[in-house]
Amino acid sequence: MAYKCTNCGHFSLKWMGRCPDCNQWNSFEEVIENGREDIQDFTWIESNLKPLSDVKLDATKRWETEIGEFDRIMGGGIIPGALTLLGGEPGVGKSTLMLQVAGNLARSKEGKDNRPIIYISGEELPAQIKLRANRLELKGEHNLLILSEQSLPRIEKELKKLNPSTVIVDSIQSIVPSLAKTTGPGSIQQVGEATYELNKLAKRQGSAIFLIGHITKGGELAGPKAIEHMVDVVMYLEGGSESDVRILRAVKNRYGAIDEVGVFQMKEKGLNEIINPSKFFTARGNEAKPGSSIVPSLEGTRPILVEIQALVSPSGYGNSQRRCTGLDFNRVLLLLAVIEKNLGLHIGSEDVYLNLAGGISIKETALDLGITAAVVSSFKNRPIIQGTIVVGEVSLNGEVRRIRKLKERLFEATKLGYKRAVIPMLDNRFQLDSPMEAISVRNIDEAMDATGL
Ligand code: TYD
Ligand code: MG
Repeated sequence: MAYKCTNCGHFSLKWMGRCPDCNQWNSFEEVIENGREDIQDFTWIESNLKPLSDVKLDATKRWETEIGEFDRIMGGGIIPGALTLLGGEPGVGKSTLMLQVAGNLARSKEGKDNRPIIYISGEELPAQIKLRANRLELKGEHNLLILSEQSLPRIEKELKKLNPSTVIVDSIQSIVPSLAKTTGPGSIQQVGEATYELNKLAKRQGSAIFLIGHITKGGELAGPKAIEHMVDVVMYLEGGSESDVRILRAVKNRYGAIDEVGVFQMKEKGLNEIINPSKFFTARGNEAKPGSSIVPSLEGTRPILVEIQALVSPSGYGNSQRRCTGLDFNRVLLLLAVIEKNLGLHIGSEDVYLNLAGGISIKETALDLGITAAVVSSFKNRPIIQGTIVVGEVSLNGEVRRIRKLKERLFEATKLGYKRAVIPMLDNRFQLDSPMEAISVRNIDEAMDATGL
């Protein structure tokens, strides 16, 4: 497959938005050689043989959406031609997020080559999308085109005609590659085939395409999991139904870092970025009170300060209760046993409730010491020393173990004004370089002394 500029005749194996010779926009047209597109034809990925040293890196432009958290996950903005999968459970906010992204892109035309944005829905009618758009107070709607369509051939026809900068496909499971196929929409084959075709189109036209994929409640991605290898970026939107906090997580990114997370809150008018998550999740944790501990946790590679809240009170009816939200329940049970055994506190006959403030959910062993401190603090009805954070993994015999990225975690805490940190005993060679007063402890007994409990 090859392309030719209709203006100056410049020849290229790849479609380009702008001719490098005559600077004309959208002037490339496919040169039809044998009239038929072979399924084995991979030239759209540029298969011509050349020394690696001759491969040119086009200074890839990125389109920013003005949703900072989203751009960060994408590695600094949307790359033309990139195929992205956005997965998440039904109702988490995938359509909302992508409509906000589409609206923002449509509003700022410059930098998107004056090409339209297309939102394809195979599930909802234009009127339903309009209702959502009204709720989000979307602007720039004239540049945002809505297409209610499930047939891939018809979608392809429109995309070739309109040459959009960005396309959102909601959802990939609703797309039918060819009406002649007997398998129902959403089957692995159909999802795979539609993805393959859309990827070709994305690369050929330089359109960024987003595929929304539903995950079932159990966390399985019927279909979408099977296309992760075919796309350039994979991200997931997570969040429980009992909380309005949403985490956007990149698990694969050919153009940026993975393990990036963005934090959002679902509000009346769509998803709001939480610019400073540490501040958000510890908003009420600043004054020292019994049963509360502040822990620098890690979401992906991003340190986020969280507040663990514990309530320990005598159980009235013989069998004591254990409840927790946002934390790993089995880990909590284990830590309660470690506290009982190693600190000699009789919490067996107490009800224990634990909660991670702000509706976030984190399962990380670096929270162990924080959980321990919060429980002991509530049990003794005594607060942890003001301005102190605690972090460390706790082993079965009560030792405090080292954790990864301690420096980054402490740095995050200093930014919010915390001055003291109770941390695991470090290797002698390790230079902490932190303005914090760091108290290293070997076991939870020492840790409780250091926190004032
Ligand atoms: P939706 O984006 O439709 O989820 P998905 O596409 O992942 O299935 O959003 C689902 C929920 O979000 C729905 O229950 C309503 C709520 N919501 C808000 O709270 N605020 C809003 O502005 C919008 C548009 C939706
Ligand atoms: Mg949806």
